[in-house]
Amino acid sequence: MTVKIALLGFGTVASGVPFLLKENTEKIVQAAQDEIVVAKVLVRNEEEESRLRAAGHDYHFVTDVNEILDDSEIAIVVELMGRIEPAKTFITRALQAGKHVVTANKDLLAVHGSELRQVASDNGVSLYYEAAVAGGIPILRTLVNSFASDKITRVLGVLNGTSNFMMTKMVDEGWTYEDALKTAQELGYAESDPTNDVEGIDAAYKAVILSQFAFGMTIDFENVAHKGISGITPEDVAVAQKLGYVIKLVGDIQETRSGLSAEVSPTFLPKNHPLASINGVMNAVFVESIGIGESMFYGPGAGQKPTATSVVADIIRIVRRLKDRTVGKAFNEFSRPVQLAAPEDVKSAYYFSIEADKTSENLLRLVELFNSEQVSFKQIVQPTSEEETTRFVVVTDVMSKAQLDQVSAKLTESAEFRILNTFKVLGA
Ligand code: HSE
Repeated sequence: MTVKIALLGFGTVASGVPFLLKENTEKIVQAAQDEIVVAKVLVRNEEEESRLRAAGHDYHFVTDVNEILDDSEIAIVVELMGRIEPAKTFITRALQAGKHVVTANKDLLAVHGSELRQVASDNGVSLYYEAAVAGGIPILRTLVNSFASDKITRVLGVLNGTSNFMMTKMVDEGWTYEDALKTAQELGYAESDPTNDVEGIDAAYKAVILSQFAFGMTIDFENVAHKGISGITPEDVAVAQKLGYVIKLVGDIQETRSGLSAEVSPTFLPKNHPLASINGVMNAVFVESIGIGESMFYGPGAGQKPTATSVVADIIRIVRRLKDRTVGKAFNEFSRPVQLAAPEDVKSAYYFSIEADKTSENLLRLVELFNSEQVSFKQIVQPTSEEETTRFVVVTDVMSKAQLDQVSAKLTESAEFRILNTFKVLGA
C-alpha cells in the first residue's frame, strides 16, 4: 500500500523530506511497512512554484491549502512553514479533517500546543513534533520511551544554534556581538528576524516543550523567564575565561520541592561541564535523573537533513501506527498538574558586574548590601585591565531566586551602584 502525505511549505527542511524518502527507501518501507509518497506540496504562489520547478522539483504544487485539506487520499500533513499563522489554522483544519500532522513548529507548539493536542485527541489523530526541539537530536521520543522508567530532576540545554555559534565566536575568537550576528545571518543560521534567537525566545519555546516531555508539566511560555545574549560584553567574556568558565545561553528546567522552574539565560558553565564543549551551531540536552544519572544528547539543532530526519521519523511512526491500528495516541502521555517552583527553592550562584567608583568604602558597602540578604561572596574578581576603576565583579555563593530579586532591587535603588550584568553560575 501507499500512504500519501502533503507538505505545507517547501523551504530548507521540507526539501529534505523527499530526499530522505528517496535515498533511504528500503529502510523506511521496512519500518513503516508501507510506501510513503509526497502527493502535494503547498507553496505561497505561482512564482514560488515556477522557481522550484526551474530548480528541478517536480511535485504536484498547489497554492490553495483546501486542495490538500479536502483531499481524502492524503493521510498526513507535514507543516514546515513555521511561525504562528497561517500554520495554526492549517494544522487545526487538517486535524479536524482527520489527517495526522507532523510539524517542526516550536513557536506554535510552545504557545498553542495544548489547544492543538486537544483538537488532535478530539479527532482521534496524531500530532507529532520531534523536530521542534534541537532539530536533529532525537530527544523527545527518547524522553518518552527510554526515560519512561526514570525520574528526571533537571534538564539543561544548549538549545539555540545561532546564539551558540555567536557565543563560540565571541569566546574563542574575541569577536564582537555585532560581527558574530552578521556572520550568523550570512551563514543562514539566524532566523530572518534574529530577535527570537538572540533574546532567548526560541530556546524558551523549546524549554516549554521539553518541560512537557521531561516533567509532564505543560507550563505556559510566560512562565519561562528568558534573557538573551545581546547584553553580554567582552568584559564579561574575559572574566568568565579568567575564572575558568565558558558563557553559553542555557535552558534550565528543574523540579524543586515546590514545583518546576524553567528559564533561559546566559550561564557561566565550568569548563569541565559537558555542555561547555558544545560549540558552533551544535545543540545539546543534558539530563539529570535518578536512574541513569547524567546523560547528554548532542547533535545539530537545525539544518535541512538533520531536521528532515526527525520529521520523516515522525511520518514513519504514524504510518506504522496506521498499519498497526494504534494511531491517534498522544506523542507524549506523561501529564501532571502544573506546579511552579517558589523563588525561595530555585538556587544558584550568580555573577554580578556592577558599575561603581572602585573605592574601599564602596566595596564595604557592597559586601554589607549582599550580607543584608544573607548572601556571601565566593569571589571578588580583580579587574582584567589596570585602567578598570569603575566596575566591581563578584561571584556569589549559592542563593535563591528570592534573594537574587532582593539584592538586585537594593542595588538598583542604591545611589552608588548600577548593575551592568547578572548571570547564573553553574557548579560554583
Ligand atoms: N534558529 C534556530 C536555531 C533554528 O538557531 O537554533 C532551529 O530551531
